[in-house]
Amino acid sequence: MNIKKWGALVAAGALAASLALFGCSSGDQGTTTSSTSGNDAGYTLVNDGKLTVAASLDFPPFENLNGDKPEGFAVDLMTLLAEEMGLECEYLPSTKFDTIVPLIQTGGKADVGVSSFTITDKRLQQVDFTDPYCNVNQSITVRSDSGITDVAQLEGKKIGAQSGTTGYEWAAENIKDAEVTGYDEMTAVFAALDSGQIDAVSVDLPVANYYVRSYSDCQVIKEIPTGEQYAVTVSKENPELTKALNKALQAVHDNGKYDELAAKWLQ
Ligand code: ARG
Repeated sequence: MNIKKWGALVAAGALAASLALFGCSSGDQGTTTSSTSGNDAGYTLVNDGKLTVAASLDFPPFENLNGDKPEGFAVDLMTLLAEEMGLECEYLPSTKFDTIVPLIQTGGKADVGVSSFTITDKRLQQVDFTDPYCNVNQSITVRSDSGITDVAQLEGKKIGAQSGTTGYEWAAENIKDAEVTGYDEMTAVFAALDSGQIDAVSVDLPVANYYVRSYSDCQVIKEIPTGEQYAVTVSKENPELTKALNKALQAVHDNGKYDELAAKWLQ
């Protein structure tokens, strides 16, 4: 190769590096340049050596913020899976829940969406899912002084849920004449219940149990056996990444670390 060509290559490299440094926001170009190179596992990564995660960090005990630090069962689990894959786990700033699947589908910003995503037929048309890592049911929470003790009493009432969730869908489809309001953040849904703007919250049971501890005058009145399974969402264009994550998930089941995390977060 002649000197001129080397010069051009170095210049192109420098340009790619500067785009990466200044966080090229137009997505694809800046990021795909650096992907695949250096990884022989057959999958692509938005940033070499890193598993970049998009999450709505408002869903304790699965994914939440402690100050500005992501924490929770799924956060620890992703750290373990990344470790198994020889990668570092990196979380993007908290992302609005109903934008994560489209973001993974489009590509270029995050490798995986990890936000207690229930495997649903609709989502399966948009993204791939790994093997499940958790099983949950839905639930209904009300204010303790509301006199509401059964779902039948919610007819025509105001229900709150996070936009784009299975909890929202369940309420809209199963509570007669309900007025269902979607909120961006789970925290806002419970705040609305507490302040009397809504009569009930429809959300995954472990999360309801967690939130009612901080709103002492709210209580879970019903577990709804929807039998949902959480899994990690991956772009359909990155099937080898799904495979590698499944392998890592199996490994953390086999070495007992999954059980340690479950004991720590999901009691
Ligand atoms: N499991 C429900 C769903 O898939 C709710 C998930 C909400 N997750 C979150 N991190 N806020 O729709």
